[in-house]
Amino acid sequence: MELQGKRIVLGVTGGIAAYKAAELVRLLGRQGADVQVAMTAAATHFVTPTTFQALSGKPVFTDQWDARMPNAMAHIDLSRQADCIVVAPASADFLARVANGLADDLLTTMVLARDCPLLAAPAMNRQMWESQATRRNMAQLAADGVHLLGPASGEQACGEVGAGRMLEPEEILEEVIAFFTPKVLAGRKVLVTAGPTFEAIDPVRGITNLSSGRMGYAVARAARHAGAAVTLVSGPVGFGPPQGVDRIDVKSALEMHAAVMARAVEADIFVAVAAVADYRVANAAEHKLKKDAGGVPPIELVENPDILAEVAALKDGPFCVGFAAESRNLEEYAQAKRRRKNIPLIAGNLIQDGFGGDDNRLVLFDDNGTHPLTPAPKSVLARQLVEHIAHLTGAA
Ligand code: C5P
Repeated sequence: MELQGKRIVLGVTGGIAAYKAAELVRLLGRQGADVQVAMTAAATHFVTPTTFQALSGKPVFTDQWDARMPNAMAHIDLSRQADCIVVAPASADFLARVANGLADDLLTTMVLARDCPLLAAPAMNRQMWESQATRRNMAQLAADGVHLLGPASGEQACGEVGAGRMLEPEEILEEVIAFFTPKVLAGRKVLVTAGPTFEAIDPVRGITNLSSGRMGYAVARAARHAGAAVTLVSGPVGFGPPQGVDRIDVKSALEMHAAVMARAVEADIFVAVAAVADYRVANAAEHKLKKDAGGVPPIELVENPDILAEVAALKDGPFCVGFAAESRNLEEYAQAKRRRKNIPLIAGNLIQDGFGGDDNRLVLFDDNGTHPLTPAPKSVLARQLVEHIAHLTGAA
């Protein structure tokens, strides 16, 4: 529930992407936002108000003179207590009207009369997006402090390919969550490792660790929401990178080590969440090992570099944060690990319920002592960890 208690007015304007706004209402609602939909007349040609009413659980307004508003001030009342207005899709015409201060329908009047930020997700044909008039309007809107979300490039409803496509509903949701997150790491460079590593035995077999990668990805996402520029060095996981995060894919511990060491000096903060294999196979076979070759194949192990300890030992290196997953004696083991690796902060979790779930239990250990966090979804814990890092590094 990352938008709990937020009041959001969702403006829908006339464009084929209006159908995607229906999904956005659902996504915003699922995160706890209270969504009030207002549509332009053109938008109702694409999707009916009934769809939005059913999804938001509230009457939808399309007309400034709606008789349901006793004082005939729909434009003031609907956005009075809003935390922000999100317009998705925002058509070229709508953006032009806002850029010029026009207030000739309910939505533009609400936007002009608002006392809260405006986020707009443009959606239009490539040529409309590139036109000089739209360029002018977009520059004006940016100068006026409007937060523009996208647009994306790609295939368009008209069959053309180019810039102007509305961001996907999930991407808009991410931007709205990011918008509401305090920028406690603004301007910081954060390097994160996540996922397991995979150490080959032969071309089809290997040694790996149980790690879903979800905690590391949640940390990368939370750091980005907090305003940091984030690079995520990731072992093999089954999902894509968080929005706005630069991901570098690696497989083995040695690859992860190389990718991290190449970037560690310029990072301000390094968070090592990856479950790095302690050992790799010294004698990995070039070809698949055959069972009928006789005997049990000898697998020789050699120790992998400790990436976190090496980064922590760098002169002028980043502020280092480690993770310790333990099945018992959490405090003792985590504190010992923190001292051994010489890092200021370690997040410990007691593995009780297995790996890979959405929820987690974290206890933070630093020079000031022990800080247990309430068990919560990884997204919430990641945000708290980021706030703690910001606090310790003097950024917040
Ligand atoms: O030593 P141990 O694996 O228990 O420490 C866990 C912490 O160290 C985690 O933050 C993990 O990402 C990091 N680590 C590392 N390189 C290794 C082993 C662990 O960066 N080879």
